Amino acid sequence: MKNPFVLSPKVDKSLFCDREKELQDLLRIVTNGANATLISPRRMGKTGLIYRLFDKIKEQKMDIDTFYVDIYATQTTEDFITAFAEAIIDTYKKKIPLPKKFLKAIGGMKPTLSFDKLTGSPELSLTFNSDNEKLNTLKSIFDFLENHDKPVIVAFDEFQQIREYKGIYMEAVLRTHIQTLKNVNFIFCGSRRHIMADMFINARSPFYCSTMHVHLDKIAPEKYNEFINRLFTENGKTIEPDAIKFIIDFTRCHTFYTQSLCNYVFQHSKRQITTAETKSLAAQLLSLNETTFLQYRALLTTQQWNYLRAIAKEGSISQPMSSTFLSKYAIGTSANSQRLLSSLIEKDLILKELSINKTEYFVYDVFLSRWLEEN
Ligand SMILES: Nc1ncnc2c1ncn2[C@@H]1O[C@H](COP(=O)(O)OP(=O)(O)O)[C@@H](O)[C@H]1O
Ligand SMILES: [Mg+2]
Repeated sequence: MKNPFVLSPKVDKSLFCDREKELQDLLRIVTNGANATLISPRRMGKTGLIYRLFDKIKEQKMDIDTFYVDIYATQTTEDFITAFAEAIIDTYKKKIPLPKKFLKAIGGMKPTLSFDKLTGSPELSLTFNSDNEKLNTLKSIFDFLENHDKPVIVAFDEFQQIREYKGIYMEAVLRTHIQTLKNVNFIFCGSRRHIMADMFINARSPFYCSTMHVHLDKIAPEKYNEFINRLFTENGKTIEPDAIKFIIDFTRCHTFYTQSLCNYVFQHSKRQITTAETKSLAAQLLSLNETTFLQYRALLTTQQWNYLRAIAKEGSISQPMSSTFLSKYAIGTSANSQRLLSSLIEKDLILKELSINKTEYFVYDVFLSRWLEEN
């Protein structure tokens, strides 16, 4: 029996949990001439949602072409342009030779193109001699999409990465193009909330007020509960209701962690799954990840590591400067606490969650958090 709890971003409709509202919101925004930002912590389901949205557009036979551009690994403007061009080629790869207009867009840059033997993904190499050539190529790509015979949606994943590029001020360049396009709408995805917020909500940034925000929260626990129950049942297993509750609580309903534990429990169980068995499988899964956790430790000072453990033991904290917290874990002064907190947020090891009436801090990696609690 195939494991129904998928751990890769491309999830089939029947194995995809909820997100109905977010899908509708995104679809409405980008089919009404507007652009969207999609922001959430890592592993909450942004990439999965984009793929699902693009599939839904195909399922409904909407006359729209979609392009997914992951810029997570890009370091420079050249990398960005190459990733953008590759995404377009990827969509067309069944139609090689590529459209002449697109070749013209990248033609001057001595393109060499190959396809990864395993994944079939295009690998393009472009040669630029000046910033002007980069700007012109980028313009040609946007022109190509603007003159496309169908409306176009482009999703840039991990968009905050453009702030890492040196030289050309990409935010301003992209904003200028994007403003003038009528045939193309965009989804800007990002995991680093403070950078994304600075890009889209700060009045001095080029993208200020140019998009509609879709916030991706946790999937509602009741919905996830139903979904988990259904997937086990449909695939020939029964699981105790308390076991499902345990899974959701243990993984804080953070999509990737919930999926991972479900996947593991499905893998290692027989037809009937008890709560006790589920708990013991959760502990096993943590010990499987121990090497990764120890690698985290190697990157931190003892003080930082102890601070992380303090937060894990508490589950979460909202008053990191309170004397109770400082003395309970021998953290020292509140300035010390502030410094440790900031450094761990910067390293993406602590997640800062804002809600209307409070700010809460969690260990970002849920499994690390659960492991620290016990060790
Ligand atoms: N709605 C969903 N239902 C089931 N699994 C999902 C859902 N959304 C995401 N996932 C799973 O969770 C994992 C993390 O999601 P991903 O989209 O990669 O997060 P992000 O892009 O926010 O970091 C993915 O590997 C995917 O398999
Ligand atoms: Mg992602």
